[in-house]
Amino acid sequence: MVDPVRLLPREDREAALADAGYNVFNLDSADVFVDLLTDSGTGTMSNDQWAAMVRGDEAYAGSEGFAELEAAAREVMGFEQIVPAHQGRGAENVLYGALVSEGDTVLNNAHFDTTRAHVAANGGDPVDCPVEAATDMESEAPFKGDFSVERGRQVVEEVGEENVPVVVLTITNNSMAGQPVSVENTRDVAAFAADIDATFVVDACRFAENAHFVRQREPEFADESVAAIAREQLSYADACVMSGKKDGLVNIGGFVGLRGDGELYEQCRQRGILYEGFSTYGGMSGRDLAAFAVGLREAVDPPYVAERVEQVQRLCQALADRGVPVYQPAGGHAVYVDANQVFPHIPREAFPGQALVCELYREGGVRGVELGRFAFPDTDRRDLVRLALPRRTYGPDHIEHVADTAAAVCERAEDVSGLEIVSEPSMPELRHFSAELEPLE
Ligand code: F0G
Repeated sequence: MVDPVRLLPREDREAALADAGYNVFNLDSADVFVDLLTDSGTGTMSNDQWAAMVRGDEAYAGSEGFAELEAAAREVMGFEQIVPAHQGRGAENVLYGALVSEGDTVLNNAHFDTTRAHVAANGGDPVDCPVEAATDMESEAPFKGDFSVERGRQVVEEVGEENVPVVVLTITNNSMAGQPVSVENTRDVAAFAADIDATFVVDACRFAENAHFVRQREPEFADESVAAIAREQLSYADACVMSGKKDGLVNIGGFVGLRGDGELYEQCRQRGILYEGFSTYGGMSGRDLAAFAVGLREAVDPPYVAERVEQVQRLCQALADRGVPVYQPAGGHAVYVDANQVFPHIPREAFPGQALVCELYREGGVRGVELGRFAFPDTDRRDLVRLALPRRTYGPDHIEHVADTAAAVCERAEDVSGLEIVSEPSMPELRHFSAELEPLE
């Protein structure tokens, strides 16, 4: 599909931003020129996916689309059973509701916001275990997304292993600049989880991009295909949470992947029926299921995934060439800009990350997202702004426009002030989606 985009005049962008309460989640997409808010559900489907959509079997139970998705999940990802869900967070609700209870601790290389919220909603304490290199913006370490088993063991010692029912590995690590996780680290985390008798879950939504990095950076896998690497990496997990909106290459959909039809599968299936829909559709229409099945296979197609990751790297390079401080190396789905370096004069309490998000829109109609203090109030992570590229959507001119826009903001950085929150929702984990702000003098 071709979707016309237009750049609103500057004064209209100014008005739209004010109307949105300086929160770009409140903008109309028609008012956005290049939309890098997320890579989730915003990509372009292939001709084969559209063909599958048209053939969609809309039976309530036992549709062909479900059988196709189940087969794809089995062949591409190695999970024998799936419990379908309308998207990743639906799958998180199904799985974490079954695994996590009041007082538990859940370990993750880094929780994504909805994962954190689901663990917290079930009474659990989400604890991140990133490796040290993760917070070093310049380190060229190949797998800065890895899980620190050492940190995991420390936490287990503090809280007791009986209180850690789940260990999660998020590939790629979205909350740590989209950095990949090695297969070696995956094996170590699996052994650690087995050792403390915890269920080992992989958040697999960007599993194909991760496999591409493994092929390039982990010598053991240099001669393996992306598809083979993906299967091997996922083979160590007891279960996966999948958002089809990323490497499923669809606009909506997700599932919990499981091995065998044991007690956990049965529990998830019942929760799925309760919250998502009967266990052969889970909130998706038949055509969604069918397109998802095709997308999963396309995601591990070598030319597709190589071009996908390289486009992100080209954006990162274009920004770096213009002196914009970016997290290096680029992540699989997004480039992360360090707002603390762009705006050293804005104190962290005045949300330099959100100020940068607003300026990118004001300057060039570009929409990114803050993943720093504003999105994660209780952590002291850097104020990074994520520019996520939708899959198979934008071309080189868009990339240049984004880089030029960011460079123009950096040039007049001193004139930019911070923001204060004027209204916010009650759940702090979800603050950045709906809080409203105002610029400080
Ligand atoms: N896990 C990870 C690592 C994610 O990045 C996301 C979504 C989810 C789970 C939840 O999946 O959106 O289908 O419910 N990430 C999107 C993003 C929203 O912008 O990074 P969902």
